[in-house]
Amino acid sequence: SVRVLTGITTTGIPHLGNYAGAIRPAVAASRESGVDAFYFLADYHALIKCDDPARIAQSRLSIAATWLACGLDAERATFYRQSDIPETTELNWLLTCVAGKGLLNRAHAYKAAVTANVDAGQDADAGVTMGLYSYPVLMAADILLFNAHRVPVGRDQIQHVEMARDIAQRFNHVFGKGRDYFTLPDAVVDEQVATLPGLDGRKMSKSYDNTIPLFSTAKQLKTAISRIVTDSRLPGEAKDADSSHLFQIYRGFASNESSAEFRQSLLDGMGWGDAKQQLFALLDAELAPGREHYNALLQRPDDLEDILLAGAAKARAIAQPFLAELREAVGLQSFR
Ligand code: TYM
Repeated sequence: SVRVLTGITTTGIPHLGNYAGAIRPAVAASRESGVDAFYFLADYHALIKCDDPARIAQSRLSIAATWLACGLDAERATFYRQSDIPETTELNWLLTCVAGKGLLNRAHAYKAAVTANVDAGQDADAGVTMGLYSYPVLMAADILLFNAHRVPVGRDQIQHVEMARDIAQRFNHVFGKGRDYFTLPDAVVDEQVATLPGLDGRKMSKSYDNTIPLFSTAKQLKTAISRIVTDSRLPGEAKDADSSHLFQIYRGFASNESSAEFRQSLLDGMGWGDAKQQLFALLDAELAPGREHYNALLQRPDDLEDILLAGAAKARAIAQPFLAELREAVGLQSFR
């Protein structure tokens, strides 16, 4: 069977970009026959970006409820919290010892922090923690612990999956002695929504504060959509559909046919107000059923806890024996 694995960092409330880039394709994959799905809350990764415990706690609940409300069958898939799997942090160390520092120097998130510091005239590494620096190694541990073949992600995570491949290859090479301990993972990116734009046209991201929350009320959804930035062309004037991020968001959720129709209407001069109304109708129809389920789940944290603990037990039943083999591979076997 094919193993599919992905995670979401628990630092905020899920937005349309998380949904289109990761949750929707992952839930669809989990329903394919012959697929073994591993989906988790990346709550250790959250500590890298956030030192507000209340926010992390809220986000973990919200993201857990989101996966289930989006149709994940937790009996069929293995659904867990990263921090419930101690084998992840153990593997993280084994991988840290083969991961090249030069490789991590090239990670986008680290490089962006350095560039911002240098531009601001500060020390290059000001405010950079070892957590931020080693972030891709922890992510490699998530993926390699379960020997995932496929990792559905948005474009921003491709580099991390490639680093996981590099680190896996290195471990196989150094310790494998003819055996490939780790499967080399492939990122799976849906090109249509590889980078869903946010309200201002930049990548939709918690850090840019330009997101459309996935499960807000219909009214809040409408308000968020009304804030999508458009050009100043008036109704009746032809719009440049292909450069419009409103169109890109629409296209991320509509069939090819309705996308083509929507595009044509923009070229024919549909006003932005009408376009926003149509986008609202499209999104609301897709999200309304999950929204109710989501709100109901948030009222039942005990049930979410049970589901996640059961998922962790399933995950550890795989991770524990594998980690024992890996310990042996590096020379940490028992004396007996
Ligand atoms: P995170 O939490 O930033 O994002 C979760 C997923 O959502 C995707 N995504 C987007 N896709 C399209 N358009 C956007 N605007 C957009 N914004 C976010 C991300 O690409 C991602 O797939 N490091 C990861 C979490 C992680 C992980 C892993 C993922 C930890 N371990 C192992 C896969 C495998 C992260 O911070 O994603």
